[in-house]
Amino acid sequence: MKKQLMALLFGSALVLGACGGGGDEAAEPPADSPDSSGSETSIDPEQVVQQNCISCHGENLEGAGNFPALNDVGSRLSEEEIRGVIDNGQGAMPPDIIEGEEADAVAKWLSEKK
Ligand code: HEC
Repeated sequence: MKKQLMALLFGSALVLGACGGGGDEAAEPPADSPDSSGSETSIDPEQVVQQNCISCHGENLEGAGNFPALNDVGSRLSEEEIRGVIDNGQGAMPPDIIEGEEADAVAKWLSEKK
């Protein structure tokens, strides 16, 4: 329970930190960027997972050896717990492989895999 709370706090601190600092103009997409509208909804969690997670967790998220399967992870962990693992890492899994909205979308998507 404590660990989960820490993960939540840590996650919010990261988000606040990312938005709070000055000089983030460079991170803004150009005004004429083709997808400057609705870019938040354009995250495809499945694709993010394909690019960042399957090297360890298996092409179909079936797991292998020491890497746990993720295709049923929703039956073991809540969305918040999965988000915590992504933020903080776990065992041999490094922290912050993905961050922010991508991590949110992936945690939600995985929590529905039961
Ligand atoms: C470098 C290899 C590696 C990568 C890349 C990786 N993981 Fe992991 N992951 C692991 C290992 C190893 C564990 C088991 C850690 C332990 O409990 O000892 C794990 C555990 C997890 C768990 C907990 C599963 C459970 O049943 O307890 C989740 C959730 C998870 N990973 C999600 C992800 C997501 C999402 C990504 C992509 C953003 C990802 N992982 C990328 C190695 C990796």
